[in-house]
Amino acid sequence: MDPIIAATHADPYPYYARLRAEGGLVFHQGLKLWVASSAPAVAAVLAHGDCHVRPAAEPVPKAIVGGLAGKVFGQLMRMNEGERQRCPRSAIEPGLALIDAHEVNALVAARLITPDADGLYNALFRGPVCVLAALLGFSPAQGRAISEVTADFVACLSPLSDPLQLETAHTAAEQLRGYFIELLDDPGNKSSLLAGIRARFAGDPETLIANLMGLFSQTYEATAGLIGNAMLALIRNPSLLRDATRVDDLIAEVQRFDPSVQNTRRFVTAPCEIEGVSLSSGDVILVLLASANRDPQLNDDPDAFLLDRPQRRSFTFGAGRHQCPGRQLALSIASATLKEILAHQPALDRLTWEYRPSLNGRIPVFRNSPPCHPNRSATNSTNTFSLGSDFLERG
Ligand code: HEM
Repeated sequence: MDPIIAATHADPYPYYARLRAEGGLVFHQGLKLWVASSAPAVAAVLAHGDCHVRPAAEPVPKAIVGGLAGKVFGQLMRMNEGERQRCPRSAIEPGLALIDAHEVNALVAARLITPDADGLYNALFRGPVCVLAALLGFSPAQGRAISEVTADFVACLSPLSDPLQLETAHTAAEQLRGYFIELLDDPGNKSSLLAGIRARFAGDPETLIANLMGLFSQTYEATAGLIGNAMLALIRNPSLLRDATRVDDLIAEVQRFDPSVQNTRRFVTAPCEIEGVSLSSGDVILVLLASANRDPQLNDDPDAFLLDRPQRRSFTFGAGRHQCPGRQLALSIASATLKEILAHQPALDRLTWEYRPSLNGRIPVFRNSPPCHPNRSATNSTNTFSLGSDFLERG
């Protein structure tokens, strides 16, 4: 196990506890980077002005520099500091926070969900982007096409992508850009979300388009993972299904307990001291958000799964200046989608799953069990589950 393998390990949480016991911010010799695992260390790194989201020497990954996906990457608020982050963020954040959960519910309910593995795949990996597309004023057909293209575009964000996937990501960026040029030119667009963003935005049109594309890529896998991990919670503890009215509480606890984004990174740009540790310019810090969520300094009884957890605290959506502006929207989409899935009474016990290969995402993909292997665990070598004492329904 190491802190990166942990993201897609069947149960990384005991390992995270050991890392916290060794110290909140410790150098990992194997990975040659610092690992922030405790809640105070994670908070301090995310708040520090000298800890940036990209290395100074490589603002855009070498593998995609030169193509449109690289150009978009270089304009994203997520990948910038200073004015290049603040300007798009100040235009986009307020509108995202205002989105009405009832509107999200209606958009999710309007989509056809079937309870088999293909239907679940569409609900998890296509639905959230379709909801966001509709909120921005795209038609349902455009939303479906955009959700396909987004799947190709997000490859440019992963270091695991191969050259063919990166080439496809550049083409996907061209296509997404085309959709947004048409949308922004459309005098009939009735989206209050888009109108608000345009009214507040003071930069150039290409930066606006890049950051609107960024909303799709940020939504895509993380929200699928939240819904998927909530389904795993139900599979592991079917008694949680007894109270179907508590889906909002379930999603709120799952995002803390078993987050779809397990870690993020920071790059030190000037010598500094964090939690008593001296860091040098060029150092890399792996920030274990999922470990901080289980730190008893952050939440009482952190390894218990509590629907009624009082004062739940979580780093799943980050913290500080880059904190996720889509948090509320993601929670609304996840709750609405899970309610729809449950309304179809899916045979959860007939699903197998595996986590998508990733360095930081914990995103299950579900499949139907082959008929000859009715036992889910037998067909899934890496992700068998146990009803351990850490998974108790309380309240
Ligand atoms: C469960 C779903 C989601 C999770 C777990 C998640 C998590 C995160 C995290 C951890 C960050 C901060 C990364 C860092 O500081 O290094 C972030 C940033 C961001 N997220 Fe999300 N996110 C989710 C859904 C969404 C959605 C639905 C949207 C938009 C519609 C969104 C938009 C963004 C943007 C634009 C940023 C960059 C903010 C900035 O750099 O100022 N996210 N997200």
